[in-house]
Amino acid sequence: MKTQRLFSAVQPSGNLHIGNYLGAIAQWTALQAEYDAIFCIADLHAITVPQDPVALRAKTIEIAKIYLAAGVDPEQCTLFAQSQVKEHTELMWILNTLARLGDLEKMTQFKDKSAKGEKETAGVGLFDYPVLMAADILLYDTAIVPVGEDQLQHIELARTLARRFNDRFGESFVVPEGRVTRGGARIMGLDDPTKKMSKSATSEYNAIALTDTAEAIRKKIKKAVTDSGSEIVYRDDKPALKNLINIYSLLSMKTPESIEELYRGRGYGDFKTDLAEVVIGFLAPFQERFAAISDEEALAVLEAGAAEARILATGKMRLVRERIGLIG
Ligand code: AMP
Ligand code: TRP
Repeated sequence: MKTQRLFSAVQPSGNLHIGNYLGAIAQWTALQAEYDAIFCIADLHAITVPQDPVALRAKTIEIAKIYLAAGVDPEQCTLFAQSQVKEHTELMWILNTLARLGDLEKMTQFKDKSAKGEKETAGVGLFDYPVLMAADILLYDTAIVPVGEDQLQHIELARTLARRFNDRFGESFVVPEGRVTRGGARIMGLDDPTKKMSKSATSEYNAIALTDTAEAIRKKIKKAVTDSGSEIVYRDDKPALKNLINIYSLLSMKTPESIEELYRGRGYGDFKTDLAEVVIGFLAPFQERFAAISDEEALAVLEAGAAEARILATGKMRLVRERIGLIG
């Protein structure tokens, strides 16, 4: 009997990369048997920056297929798109009445995006984004939220809002906990090991997309920046190499120590050639499964998932409205 709820989501924007996989999705597939898991495609978060309507719809379906191909199993968990369950936005409004400007002004992601005097033109949706994320999480009595490290600050806000609501209106929400994996929590860019691998990076050499061809992967790894020296060592003072060894290790199930051992006395050339094959070998079966899933199949999974989620969400909102004194 699964007793604890797990919730996580990814935005349907940009191309999902191995950082998304190792930081978030790999945890999901590992935990879905143990937890009562809900996975969501955060399309309402994606529109906090301009999106082309046709592309947004296609991307949402693509992400559903990526989840399924990566091993998210609709028999074991619930999978849907955020906009299919209207209670997310309803709860967001209520949490907005508890969130403070000071809470949101602290958020690194907003500060980054509104830096350099861009605050005047930054969208209100972008500012309020963490409150919608808190609504996603709290709506389902979530106990754990598996994410990459960059999302922990947003989860902290969800905890704050849950406590604030509970203090004021009585125990209503579970206070959730973020969960990051060791090693995969922060995969860095191949072109710059000081910044995380990102869907929105400008250089095509920053990230390996889950849908990249073998040829593109070989080229990107060949071009990946390395540190000075020629030894293959897993050390903090060699951040580029550490990141590459991390990726190698997480995708091959070899420890960083055994990888150091394997390449003792050999150079970057051998290491990079093999790393490319490790990544390609890992992605090949995933890409085969991805190609075999039709749009219709993915949409049917989302619709069934949304129907399950709505039952939970409407029940929770009934309680929330009653606690607050709303008559609707
Ligand atoms: P995003 O790409 O910001 O929509 O993130 C989707 C999920 O992947 C979130 O749980 C992130 O924390 C995680 N994630 C994004 N980039 C990375 C990265 N470079 N390393 C590890 N996890 C990541
Ligand atoms: N903000 C998250 C990201 O960009 C996506 C997200 C939306 C999310 N709602 C969530 C993650 C709820 C965890 C829980 O990665």
